[in-house]
Amino acid sequence: MNQDILPHVPATLPVVVLDYVLGTLTHTSPARRRSALVLVLVALFLGVQVLGALRSTLNAPRIPPVPQWELDDALAAAYVPTPPTAQQRANHLRLSSLIESRRSAYPAALFTEAALAAESSPVVGVTAVILHWKRRKGLDLVLRHITRYPFIREVIVWNNRPGVDLSVETITLSAPPGSSLPLAELRIVNSPSNVHDAGKHLACSMASHEHCYFNDDDWLNVYMDTTYTKYLECCAGRGSAAGGGRIASNTLPIIHLEHRRWRFDNPTIDLHTGFTWLGTGSFAPRHLSRRFMQQQAATPLALSRDQSLVADMFFSLWTNAYPEQMPNDLVPIDVEGGEVGWSRGVDQWAVVYGNIRSAVRTLYTILSLSSPSLVPALFPTAPPPPESHTRAPCANDACLFVTSLTPFPPPSALRTSYAASPAGSRTGPGSVLGRAWRAVSRRGGGGNVWHLDGGAEVRSHRVLLRERERELESTEGPERGFDPTRRGWTVREHEARFSELEREDGRPAGGRESAWPGDEWWMRNGSWHLAVDGRGTDTCWESFRAPEADDHFGLTLVKPRAVRQLTIIGSPDLANIRGWEDLNGGGDSWEVLTVRGDGTGGWEPRSLLSRPRVVPLSLSLVSVTLSLDPIHTPTTYALRDEGNYEVDEEGREVAIRKVKIVSRGRKRERVRVCAWELDGWKF
Ligand SMILES: *[C@@H]1O[C@H](CO)[C@@H](O)[C@H](O)[C@H]1NC(C)=O
Repeated sequence: MNQDILPHVPATLPVVVLDYVLGTLTHTSPARRRSALVLVLVALFLGVQVLGALRSTLNAPRIPPVPQWELDDALAAAYVPTPPTAQQRANHLRLSSLIESRRSAYPAALFTEAALAAESSPVVGVTAVILHWKRRKGLDLVLRHITRYPFIREVIVWNNRPGVDLSVETITLSAPPGSSLPLAELRIVNSPSNVHDAGKHLACSMASHEHCYFNDDDWLNVYMDTTYTKYLECCAGRGSAAGGGRIASNTLPIIHLEHRRWRFDNPTIDLHTGFTWLGTGSFAPRHLSRRFMQQQAATPLALSRDQSLVADMFFSLWTNAYPEQMPNDLVPIDVEGGEVGWSRGVDQWAVVYGNIRSAVRTLYTILSLSSPSLVPALFPTAPPPPESHTRAPCANDACLFVTSLTPFPPPSALRTSYAASPAGSRTGPGSVLGRAWRAVSRRGGGGNVWHLDGGAEVRSHRVLLRERERELESTEGPERGFDPTRRGWTVREHEARFSELEREDGRPAGGRESAWPGDEWWMRNGSWHLAVDGRGTDTCWESFRAPEADDHFGLTLVKPRAVRQLTIIGSPDLANIRGWEDLNGGGDSWEVLTVRGDGTGGWEPRSLLSRPRVVPLSLSLVSVTLSLDPIHTPTTYALRDEGNYEVDEEGREVAIRKVKIVSRGRKRERVRVCAWELDGWKF
């Protein structure tokens, strides 16, 4: 028997309503059905609205604050250049004619695609990476300048000014003068935001050539040929295993002195690294930039956005090698009005010191863990190659000054200092920075994690450091030495330790090899470029100590040339330069050696046609002129049964590529060099 089930269900309001609605929706009258349907739809609509309103009032969305960089980007996009001052217009004219006056000594024929592809090519093609922000005139000058050099075969302009795109049509490149070499390839990346220095390594990573050249738009590197020549010699890493090579850069003498203190060494974990900026004209192998992109993902503290903006501060330190940096007189580009600098009103020095510290700490931690799961090692540990003796470009960009004499003690000179008082055990101005760094890393909190072995192991940097500390404290081992992860250690402290090397014997620059040169002496007398700056006897380079046997100084020529007469203006004992066969001078004398243009035969001792002609210029300066006995290409006769006969004194006169003056013994005085003349060519 069928029973209505409704009477058994508690007649609550919803059920009644539902019952009613269903009843009307299925009512026999069409008008009732339709109006009920409309009512149901309206009720549903209102219900959804009410729910939505409730939801948004109950959990109001958090509106993220507009990040500073978006504001900066908007400002840069809206930037209208101010007209240059009269001074800036004059600068522009001067720089333009300076650019026109320079041309490369490298023959363009070496840089055709076919020539570069040849296994035996003596040179390499280079991709130039130029950062651009607001300085449009500076960008044009830099591009016009660098593309006159045939080795620049590609240019990537990284445009950091969002909203104002650059296009290939609006940019003019130069062709290497007097050559039929095609223009360098031009690529433009219009970055969606100002990523500052990070753009350099993003751009270099996608370069078509294996070597990159970096230049910002506020410095004109008038030492293109010489920097390139040095790079080929010391740093391009050709012929070594994959992954070789170093940075070759340029800077002002005072900055060089500063960067020499930013070198770090700990042999027990193969840490040996140093700092350089890139923006004033630097060459580096492309694989360093590619590796740097990988390092950023693998480090215990993944770089924050702000840190990757200042990538230069991490890049050279994470190569775990000493960069090759040459001091010289840089040429700034100041040609446009308005606010075109990079500075954003932050405390620049605190940023620099903080980031260097952070970069060194990270490197130290990774090398101490030496985790086998990081294969291939992203932070190489190969021992550093010996420092290059090629020290500074000649002002005319046609030669380089070379010497074994350096005033800088190596970073290993601090081992005694760190053994005597451990890192961080000092108080001083640096400890303020130390606290700031700790505060920053605390704020980073647990968010700073890293992925070891494909993300299988995720740990915080600080946990790693603490574990490392405990491990070290529990081992009775050799002296710890330099350890930047110790509480309170700062870059300032490191600098102070270097500077103390100077004060130990209470004397200014000079005396002992491990002393640190003073600023004044280094800038006025010690910097190598003073020997070749084209300013004659107004400025002279002076060695830091008296030369010992085999100490030497000399020149590398960008383009080999035959040299018969060599004049050196310098200290009086240079009058004792002798031909190799004349041994009368003993330890007081010097000897001349050269290397041929094609490099064959290595260093050859040279004979002099006569005793040097010495003209005293003052009590402490003489001009010494040497007449070199020319060398000729051997002429070879093949005699049957007797092999080849080589006859010197015939054939063409040999052009030389390098010349050096070598000390035969310990000297009493420091040596000085002010100016040079090669067959009437003065510099
Ligand atoms: C150092 O350089 C200055 C300026 O060029 C010069 O006047 C001075 O004589 C130099 N000192 C020495 C010891 O050569």
